[in-house]
Amino acid sequence: MAADILSVTDNRTGQAYEIPIEDGAIRATELRRIKIAEDDFGLMSYDPAFLNTASCRSAVTFIDGDRGILRYRGYPIEQLAEESTYLETSYLLLFGELPTSAELNRWTDEITHHTFVHENVKGLMEAFRYDAHPMGMFISAVAALSTFYPEAAQVDDPENRLLQSKRLIAKVPTLAAWTYRHSRGLPYVYPDNELGFAGNFLSMMFRMAEPRYAADPALERALEVLFILHADHEQNCSANATRSIGSSRVDPYSALAGAAAALYGPLHGGANEAVLRMLAEIGDVRHVPAYVERVKAGEVLLMGFGHRIYKNYDPRARIIKETADQVFEVTGRSPLLDVALELEKIALEDEYFVSRKLYPNVDFYSGLIYEALGLPVAMFSVMFAIPRTAGWLAQWLEGVNDPEQKIARPRQLYVGAEERDYVPLKHRAGGELAAV
Ligand code: CMC
Repeated sequence: MAADILSVTDNRTGQAYEIPIEDGAIRATELRRIKIAEDDFGLMSYDPAFLNTASCRSAVTFIDGDRGILRYRGYPIEQLAEESTYLETSYLLLFGELPTSAELNRWTDEITHHTFVHENVKGLMEAFRYDAHPMGMFISAVAALSTFYPEAAQVDDPENRLLQSKRLIAKVPTLAAWTYRHSRGLPYVYPDNELGFAGNFLSMMFRMAEPRYAADPALERALEVLFILHADHEQNCSANATRSIGSSRVDPYSALAGAAAALYGPLHGGANEAVLRMLAEIGDVRHVPAYVERVKAGEVLLMGFGHRIYKNYDPRARIIKETADQVFEVTGRSPLLDVALELEKIALEDEYFVSRKLYPNVDFYSGLIYEALGLPVAMFSVMFAIPRTAGWLAQWLEGVNDPEQKIARPRQLYVGAEERDYVPLKHRAGGELAAV
């Protein structure tokens, strides 16, 4: 069998190099041996947006984008969505194995008993304007938690890491629900320990004067499925942010606040919000062909379509579409569903989308479900952040435990000015400057 070695010849010098191939990759630092002179820094690889750079070894999530496969710790997402619960899935992500029933009971009990937040968090919520975006409030509240748990800074202590992880998984629904209550001017609802994870969240969102909020079981299960589907997605923008920030050995609340900020963007978790705004703008199936033409002309993106990794149908989108049908049986059909179905139909047949392998992603239908559950559009990215907390934590724990990880610090290709002398103010020519 051929050796796992890449032979490279540098045509600038005629020098040949042998670079070991390990797990289908070469170590980028091996390229540094390739120099044109003794004092040369050595060759670098240039990879904006990490299109072809593995930044870590990970055993958490597997994706085969060409075949539309997603697995957490080896378990197919379809089976987890069918059989599991969000709390069981979060245990799987963090510990690597499915829990026994005793382990699951203990995990559920511990998460349930960490759902309360310090009363001062209410004051923090109050400080925001009445129309503050819930995701901005959520990011700030997650960061603020680090000030309530200063011991979280001890990231080298495994027991401490686990305690903070439980707190985060348990408390994010409370923070999320309170951002919504603030935006509606409604009193905050405390967690109800008798309810399940999704049921308790719905209670904190919607409970009014009734002694106990009872969500429709079909809607509660639909939310549970959405939470499972959104729990992790390997090295996406926010997971990469978690690892990068975490590599400075900061506490997990600060690292996850940064991850949530990354998720807020319209190209990432903010896409579900953008999809609903887009569907509302299109408004009617008759307007779909004209909108598709605008997409093809490069005027707008078809939000909820395309993915950096999936060049096939996103497996989560398929499950979400089925979940949407179950939700609409209870809530009634959203008029925007017809617009979405027509958009999907036209796009899947159109050469522009086919040749670019653009398929619906997880965000294409999730917004319609959230809307049917009574959630305002501004809450959609917060809904993504609640379950993704488990994934961020799994990625963070793996990163801080990895002996190969150091502080994240990419190289750059400097393209700025050469050294030049300072010009005193009176000698400067001035003129219009382009923004840099
Ligand atoms: N609508 C129209 N054209 C698109 C779209 C889209 N949604 N996505 C990609 N393209 C085109 C793009 O213009 C490019 O065309 P060309 O080759 O002619 O320049 C080609 O497809 C390749 O796209 P790309 O921008 O190189 O792909 P990427 O891997 O950099 O971007 C993406 C991936 C998800 C950011 C992008 O597809 C996109 O902006 N989609 C819309 C936003 C969205 O739905 N985001 C949610 C992603 S899933 C949830 C999550 O991970 O948070």
